[in-house]
Amino acid sequence: MGNFFPDELIDEIKARNDIVDIISNYIQVKSKGSSHKALCPFHNEKTPSFVINRDKQIFKCFGCGESGDVIGFVMRMENLDFVEAIKLLAQNSNISLEQYDTSDTMKREMVEKHALFELNKKAAVYFYNNLTKQANPALDYLKRRGLTAKTIKSFGLGYAPNNWHDLMHHFLNAGYSIDDLIKCGLVTKDNEKKKQYDRFRNRIMFPIFDVRGNVIGFGGRVLNDALPKYLNSPETSIFNKSNTLYGLNFARRHINDGRLILVEGYMDVIVLHQYGYHNCVAALGTSFTKGHLQLLQKYASEVIICFDGDAAGEKATQRATELLQDTRINVKVLVLEDNMDPDDFIKQKGKFAFEEQLKAAISLIEYKIQTAKNKWPLNTSEGKIQFIKAVVSIIKEIKSPVEREVYVQKIEKDFGVSKNVLLMEIYGKDGKQPVEKNQKYTSKNIRDNKYIEAVPLVEQKGHIIAERQLIKFLLTNPDMIAKIEEKIEPEDFLIGSYRALVEYIFSNYRIASIEPDHISVELPQLKESIKDILDTDIEFIDIAKTLEKYIINLKRYKLLYEQKELQQQQMSLIQNKKLNKEEVEKELLTIGLKIMKINTEIQKLQP
Ligand code: UTP
Ligand code: MN
Repeated sequence: MGNFFPDELIDEIKARNDIVDIISNYIQVKSKGSSHKALCPFHNEKTPSFVINRDKQIFKCFGCGESGDVIGFVMRMENLDFVEAIKLLAQNSNISLEQYDTSDTMKREMVEKHALFELNKKAAVYFYNNLTKQANPALDYLKRRGLTAKTIKSFGLGYAPNNWHDLMHHFLNAGYSIDDLIKCGLVTKDNEKKKQYDRFRNRIMFPIFDVRGNVIGFGGRVLNDALPKYLNSPETSIFNKSNTLYGLNFARRHINDGRLILVEGYMDVIVLHQYGYHNCVAALGTSFTKGHLQLLQKYASEVIICFDGDAAGEKATQRATELLQDTRINVKVLVLEDNMDPDDFIKQKGKFAFEEQLKAAISLIEYKIQTAKNKWPLNTSEGKIQFIKAVVSIIKEIKSPVEREVYVQKIEKDFGVSKNVLLMEIYGKDGKQPVEKNQKYTSKNIRDNKYIEAVPLVEQKGHIIAERQLIKFLLTNPDMIAKIEEKIEPEDFLIGSYRALVEYIFSNYRIASIEPDHISVELPQLKESIKDILDTDIEFIDIAKTLEKYIINLKRYKLLYEQKELQQQQMSLIQNKKLNKEEVEKELLTIGLKIMKINTEIQKLQP
């Protein structure tokens, strides 16, 4: 029996089990009008200080302090855990819990998924052996493109030979069923003739991994200029292209300073990786989706979009920037010259040149201005007018007045468009910014330190306790881990040792014991933390019920901390007398923007 009960069920159970009636089953309750009193069953007393409130459906003992609702009472009285108490009360009021029994279905799904992962992994090994254990055209091709044996191994690249049934026969002989092979998308069926054959033939195989490193599908590239260039696995129960970023399983361990590089192709990720850029990911040939965005948001605070320098790349960049612009992610764009993609560029120009390009990546607004400039020739009046109009609408989108000001100045400087003209276009006749009420965000305010309030100490304490409680809940309710894992991740935990512990739990609960004693042996450095967690009392907290709130809180605390850190950065900039004033202004602005984005994020979290 899974113990993830929806609020409605719990409400229903409480509604059908009146607290006075239930308590009266156990002890003698003296009722006078609307007052109900009894001798407390939880401590010894001679005069009744145990009070039941029928309106609120709660009890409280003024002698020993015990209090709670009907579920809490039954738990305490019968010495049951939450789930058992729910079961008992449900039975008592003829509520069927059958529909809430999700764990069996969940288990079945998990087993099935696991089987598909295994088969895909075996297929990847099979392709890899084809590529590396004997001479073949695919290996020649990859070597020609400069990939080392180490890279080929890291990414598990492979080869599907030019035959119709190689893989099929291999796995049928190994005891797999044709259904499994079709389910994975490795074998396809010719509908009319009802013949089955390998989907991937004469292609270089790129295994596609999920964040945990399971093989969920494949991309297969032709060895020449034939079309389609890439053939990908079909969508299956484990493979959804719009929710997958190629390379994220590697990149997530290398996100320094919160930065990810978003590229277009498999080859870009792989080649950049070979040059030491391990923080690259690619959307799989589909356009950038909300699902991709969600993944990025989980892992990155800054994304550098570095798509191909051709028209298709420009279009893809536009699409990605549209989705990314209203998020907490700081977006930068890197446009490579001569229609090159990152793979071409780094091979032709070298790592140093690429590093320079990365440093020079431009902001989203600058990118939009650039695009407008490329569209309208500034050497004609008509072009110039269109350009100014385009630029004005770009600037109008910017919410921060300070940032607007910066760009207006920049446009004057870079394109010779008079600042006054721009201001008039933006703000109307007098060209003045309207005074906004509640204008929290100006560089003056940053200076005055009004905007910067340290996160209250209580928040910090609350945070640590919340983390402990949640981990204790994980350890004591392993059934719930799969559910919780979907909602929260190790990175959301701020305390390093707790983060490590959650990481351990999430990656091991399916295959190994997560008994605290066992973990203490595996990770002796976490022994103390585990002890703290075990000492944390969650007996009277109905975490199952308030899980959502807990998770929101953890995320909120994390954001508050990020914010606090940014604020400290601002302070030290302001206090550093050695720095150039203009640079400081600019830096303060950038940080201020990040803080603002976090604010939006925090507001979005409130349920
Ligand atoms: P590219 O054509 O830029 O591929 O497509 P690439 O990875 O740089 O490959 P090379 O350098 O030519 O070998 C970008 C991505 O779009 C998807 C693939 O995921 C590819 O990596 N794509 C492309 C497809 O899914 N199908 C196609 O036919 C082409
Ligand atoms: Mn390419």
